[in-house]
Amino acid sequence: MTSDAPSFAATREGEELIRRAREVYKEAYVPYSHYPVGAAALFSSRRIYSGCNVENASYGLTVCAERNAIFQAVAQGQRVLQGIAIAVPGDGFPAPCGACRQVMREFTEDCPVILVNGRGETKETSLKALLPNAFGPEFL
Ligand code: THU
Repeated sequence: MTSDAPSFAATREGEELIRRAREVYKEAYVPYSHYPVGAAALFSSRRIYSGCNVENASYGLTVCAERNAIFQAVAQGQRVLQGIAIAVPGDGFPAPCGACRQVMREFTEDCPVILVNGRGETKETSLKALLPNAFGPEFL
């Protein structure tokens, strides 16, 4: 999953995404799973939108951090996703769920995805690697 290609995580915008994703997981509402997640998404305006997971007593209504970040961006007129960082506390790395991968794919064919653990360690991958041969809006 780590890449030798020039790393987006090391760019100024990549670093800012990491910082914002790590900041926002502190706001996660996770009384059931106790698994906070933060996401920060960069759009073509160069603006960054962040979100945390928000759970519900009716468990299926939970919304992931990634979708909360992306949907906030869309509500502000953003349409082109250019990178996303996803952060969790603890030693393990996060992995976006299938639904969130598909939502990312709605707004880009490919972009860097930075996974961040609680030590601030990063793994960089891409949407194409996470969701190969994807269905997308251009099919319709
Ligand atoms: N979750 C996210 O917010 N993003 C992910 O990448 C994986 C899963 C949330 C949903 C739920 O609140 C908790 O993590 C456990 O599934």
